[in-house]
Amino acid sequence: MMDWTDRHCRVFHRQITRHTWLYTEMVTTGALVYGDVERHLRYDGVEHPVALQLGGSDPADLAKSAKLGEQWGYKEINLNCGCPSERVQKGAFGACLMNEPQLVADCVKAMRDAVSIDVTVKHRIGIDYAEEYGFVRDFVGTIADAGCTTFIVHARNAVLKGLSPKENREIPPLRYAVAYQLKREFPELEIIINGGVKTDDEIALHLEHVDGVMLGREAYHNPYLMANWDSRFYGAPGRPRSRIEVLEAMIPYIEEQLRLYGGLGLKLNSITRHMLGLMTGLPGARAFRQVLSDSKKLAAGDPRLLLEAAARMPVAA
Ligand SMILES: Cc1cc2nc3c(=O)[nH]c(=O)nc-3n(C[C@H](O)[C@H](O)[C@H](O)COP(=O)(O)O)c2cc1C
Repeated sequence: MMDWTDRHCRVFHRQITRHTWLYTEMVTTGALVYGDVERHLRYDGVEHPVALQLGGSDPADLAKSAKLGEQWGYKEINLNCGCPSERVQKGAFGACLMNEPQLVADCVKAMRDAVSIDVTVKHRIGIDYAEEYGFVRDFVGTIADAGCTTFIVHARNAVLKGLSPKENREIPPLRYAVAYQLKREFPELEIIINGGVKTDDEIALHLEHVDGVMLGREAYHNPYLMANWDSRFYGAPGRPRSRIEVLEAMIPYIEEQLRLYGGLGLKLNSITRHMLGLMTGLPGARAFRQVLSDSKKLAAGDPRLLLEAAARMPVAA
């Protein structure tokens, strides 16, 4: 998620769940082909498994970018066919690619020829207000013919004119049945559902119909939700880290990042801003957020501020 799931956010989430697959923000092919590759692809090995999401529509540029992603060690390349923003539409990629399934198939093929890791596609279930199931079925079918076996289905339409990206995540109705139908129609494909999922029980219900569930906003705003996922959904034994242990684990990481990149403008807040929701649902969550939003304290650049914030809470987290 742009501006949210940067490398610091992913390191933080990785302290909470060992096995959940994490995704980068969308990185455009232009940024990789013409820009500073290291700035866009740098990450910490602790983040794995992590997938690189690309935005683009030129098969050769996507192939080059996917290759770079593989060389940098990403475990999966995901093509964005779901972003409705005006800027992305101007670049002729994102959700508007759903109108060009053959081009997406060519892009997928070019990327698959260039890398040996999985190439996956994230998409919507329709464009504008058309609700015809055949549209998304043919989209998935065409791309599956090019060898893509995993589809992340944001189960609402993208409205290309008249709605902002934010409205496009809220206004078009969720139609989970469409993703379920895709799974029934293409049982050999891995179908991962996305959109509006907020609880473990909802995840479990979706898993009765599809192969996986992707959470965006809830995982970001209430990250400790992920603490049970290793044991509940990945069959991995062991207790999750407590919230305090998560904070403690982040301190040496933040110290190192500030040492390495402080001179380049990295601020404590660039990392701690992703952690404001850690105490969501606990008494004192507000006090925790307030301390971590105090610009004077943040300016001191001491990551032990995290523990000071937690100490303001009435019960141990
Ligand atoms: C701030 C923000 C940035 C996003 N950036 C991306 C992105 O870069 N690539 C993408 O595929 N989806 C992006 N999304 C959409 C989410 O991945 C997800 O599909 C959407 O929010 C619906 O899932 P949710 O209800 O679990 O949040 C973004 C969403 C938000 C809120």
